[in-house]
Amino acid sequence: MAKVFISGASGGFGREFAIQLEAMGYDLILHGRDRVRLQLTLDALQHPKKHLCLIADLAIPEEVEQLISRLRQEDELIALVNNAGFGVWGRFVERESVLQQEVLQTDLMAPMHMSHALLPALLKRKGFMINVSSLAAETPLPCLASYAAAKAGLTFWSEALRTELAEKLRVVTLAPGPSPTGFRDRSGMVAGKGSFFRTSAGEVVSQALQCLEQGGGYCIPGWRHKLLFVIQCLTPRCLSLKLMYKYLRL
Ligand SMILES: NC(=O)c1ccc[n+]([C@@H]2O[C@H](COP(=O)([O-])OP(=O)(O)OC[C@H]3O[C@@H](n4cnc5c(N)ncnc54)[C@H](OP(=O)(O)O)[C@@H]3O)[C@@H](O)[C@H]2O)c1
Repeated sequence: MAKVFISGASGGFGREFAIQLEAMGYDLILHGRDRVRLQLTLDALQHPKKHLCLIADLAIPEEVEQLISRLRQEDELIALVNNAGFGVWGRFVERESVLQQEVLQTDLMAPMHMSHALLPALLKRKGFMINVSSLAAETPLPCLASYAAAKAGLTFWSEALRTELAEKLRVVTLAPGPSPTGFRDRSGMVAGKGSFFRTSAGEVVSQALQCLEQGGGYCIPGWRHKLLFVIQCLTPRCLSLKLMYKYLRL
């Protein structure tokens, strides 16, 4: 049975990908750092015994290597959902440098490295890849500077790869805006900074999977996120920087 690997499946979009991909008939390899939270994802599935869980911290290169070695043993792996990621909220100079390097490692370096290692197998099996980037890739974000830098890198890499692999592998570059997941808590953002543009994880994932069914592409999910993207495109950068700083600063 065809297997799909989902990084960061212990909550948020990752858990929703697990639910919707299982309903499409795939067996899953669920990744996370926290075994207890990963078990909650398994509990949310119809056939938990069919799926496998792997633990690794993607900010640690040795653990990424071990994960790749383990995945290479899976003869039926046909797809990667590069979803795991986090941000660090606060002024760049005031937040720990190590944490910000971990953002780059987890959100950009690990998915690129894993994809490079596993792409030959995915191509042979005519599978697919979904890279969960962000609309943060479209505008520099004061107070989420490293995160926006990592996601800009991820979007550029994923879109270039999608073009290189056209006709050979379906690639989705998913660029959501704000969604109610664990992301804000993990990044340290204060509560109460809600947003009109929020879109549910279920809708984000179902739009990504529709895009996949249509052959892949750059997917901005839902009308609220599409509207946000249009605003981003129309607003001069000097103005959007000021507005985002006002919105995001401490
Ligand atoms: N929610 C939004 O507003 C939003 C918008 C645009 C893009 N995104 C992107 O969507 C993706 C999923 O995030 P989410 O919103 O679903 O947030 P979430 O609920 O916090 O889920 C993030 C997932 O990534 C995993 N993860 C974080 N750091 C990791 C590390 N060092 N090693 C391994 N796994 C790690 C987490 O595992 P643990 O449980 O172990 O922490 C968790 O499973 C991220 O790439 C995020 O940047 C989110």
